[in-house]
Amino acid sequence: SRSVNNFLMTGPKAYLIYSSSVAAGAQSGIEECKYQFAWDRWNCPERALQLSSHGGLRSANRETAFVHAISSAGVMYTLTRNCSLGDFDNCGCDDSRNGQLGGQGWLWGGCSDNVGFGEAISKQFVDALETGQDARAAMNLHNNEAGRKAVKGTMKRTCKCHGVSGSCTTQTCWLQLPEFREVGAHLKEKYHAALKVDLLQGAGNSAAGRGAIADTFRSISTRELVHLEDSPDYCLENKTLGLLGTEGRECLRRGRSLGRWERRSCRRLCGDCGLAVEERRAETVSSCNCKFHWCCAVRCEQCRRRVTKYFCSRAERPRGGAAHKPARKP
Ligand SMILES: *[C@@H]1O[C@H](CO)[C@@H](O)[C@H](O)[C@H]1NC(C)=O
Ligand SMILES: *[C@@H]1O[C@H](CO)[C@@H](O)[C@H](O)[C@H]1NC(C)=O
Repeated sequence: SRSVNNFLMTGPKAYLIYSSSVAAGAQSGIEECKYQFAWDRWNCPERALQLSSHGGLRSANRETAFVHAISSAGVMYTLTRNCSLGDFDNCGCDDSRNGQLGGQGWLWGGCSDNVGFGEAISKQFVDALETGQDARAAMNLHNNEAGRKAVKGTMKRTCKCHGVSGSCTTQTCWLQLPEFREVGAHLKEKYHAALKVDLLQGAGNSAAGRGAIADTFRSISTRELVHLEDSPDYCLENKTLGLLGTEGRECLRRGRSLGRWERRSCRRLCGDCGLAVEERRAETVSSCNCKFHWCCAVRCEQCRRRVTKYFCSRAERPRGGAAHKPARKP
């Protein structure tokens, strides 16, 4: 996809050895974005994934913030994992603290994932895409950093016991990357709590303006996501912005394992956008009740299962999803 190629084309040539890892990392960031936003009105459309500053409209809303954070996190994560797997000659475990006291009853030891390495290379690649000096550029760099902080902040301490027959009188511990899903979930929470700063007006491209921008961003923790603009409600299609709207989107209603966010997806995607919920029934056929017959055949029955799916539709229906007033919040 285009954003992946951006990394490859604009990354410094000296870092060519890392480019497949960077591309894989950017890709995993995109996939995680799609997973985290599968049941949101904005669902991480391809068009939104343009990270580089050249060309196109640059939005600076909450979703832009998430895209930057998850992308730089994905790149840092993959580089770090590659390093631990021995994919690069110049990098290995982080054992810089081994032998030192880490806390009560434990010492640093073993092979910690080398996030310092992933962080440094990711910074070189991803931050290099940002060539501007304005508030948007500062916002993007801040959110790139927030993504890298999220990788570091979700690392897990893993320990091994030592002592007579595993009595655990002392332990050695090392830091491991979590599943990337956990980084995604962490950043989704940060997305909901993102801070809006008011910098688009006023602060021009003067030295004083740039100073004001730098001061503002310095005062905000790099663990938090930051945006400058409010988001559209994402209900309606807007081709200029590359937005598809929610008409035709699937939503979820009933299901054993649905969380609260998923269960409310029909209301959020359809009802709150003035659309009806359309029920579509389908039947699936699959093999079931298979029995083994002596000798040697397996015979199965064909089982039919009814599945009901829900979609946002413009057509007014007498039953199901009464049309609500369009809401303004995404
Ligand atoms: C790093 O890992 C990714 C998958 O996790 C893989 O696609 C890529 O080729 C690896 N890079 C190197 C240099 O081995
Ligand atoms: C799409 O968004 C742009 C930028 O916010 C706006 O100017 C335009 O009116 C919108 N178009 C439609 C069809 O809503």
